[in-house]
Amino acid sequence: MEKTKIPRHVAIIPDGNGRWAIGRNLPRMAGHRAGAKIFPDVVGWAREAGIEVLSVFCFSTENWKRPDGEVRGLMRIFDVLLRRNFRRLLREKIRFRWLGSADGLQRRIVETLRAMELETASNCGFCLCLAINYSGRDEILRAVEKISATGSAIESWQSLSQNLDSSGLPDVDLVVRTSGERRLSNFLLLQSAYAELHFTECLWPDFSREELLRAIDEYGQRKRRFGAINH
Ligand code: IPE
Ligand code: MG
Repeated sequence: MEKTKIPRHVAIIPDGNGRWAIGRNLPRMAGHRAGAKIFPDVVGWAREAGIEVLSVFCFSTENWKRPDGEVRGLMRIFDVLLRRNFRRLLREKIRFRWLGSADGLQRRIVETLRAMELETASNCGFCLCLAINYSGRDEILRAVEKISATGSAIESWQSLSQNLDSSGLPDVDLVVRTSGERRLSNFLLLQSAYAELHFTECLWPDFSREELLRAIDEYGQRKRRFGAINH
């Protein structure tokens, strides 16, 4: 039997924390806490499955529109989650990349994210990218600004992609979104140009190893053509 094709880069849009909590008569924050709790496990499952890069959309530049209390609560979760798992990343030789902008983020969180990138930069196995204060359009604008500041022109896809937050990483092969929503919501727009999309009804706090393996399995059955005809 043919071995299942494993996507090199998987991008996850975790969605449904709020609905998970409401379904249990709990405040929305309880859903975010439950969603954060499974996070280290998801990283482990992705590594075991042979994925090379896992990108997770944690907080978008549009999420600032949520009520202040929820935004503050989410920032607290990120702060704790990052600090708690930082040592583990180092121990397990995981490379960390932050996708997003520092604009509006607490200095303490920006410092932690930068330190994590710096201290794991020489790790070359699995790479974990967290998108915090990220949107695809914002990333493209920042890349264009960076290039024009040097006075050079954008001559090729390569010259643009080298200035994206994801520079040097392979394109996204598979996007997974939970909670039944079927859209990309501004996540890794250019990097997902040829990605396969997998949508599951499962709410993020209920995401499991089986869910991830199902997504990978479905990916393995898709025929990717990249614009060519190859039946
Ligand atoms: C996703 O869950 C988590 C973040 C955006 C941080 P939601 O908060 O969007 O959950 P729903 O969509 O309201 O259920
Ligand atoms: Mg949502």
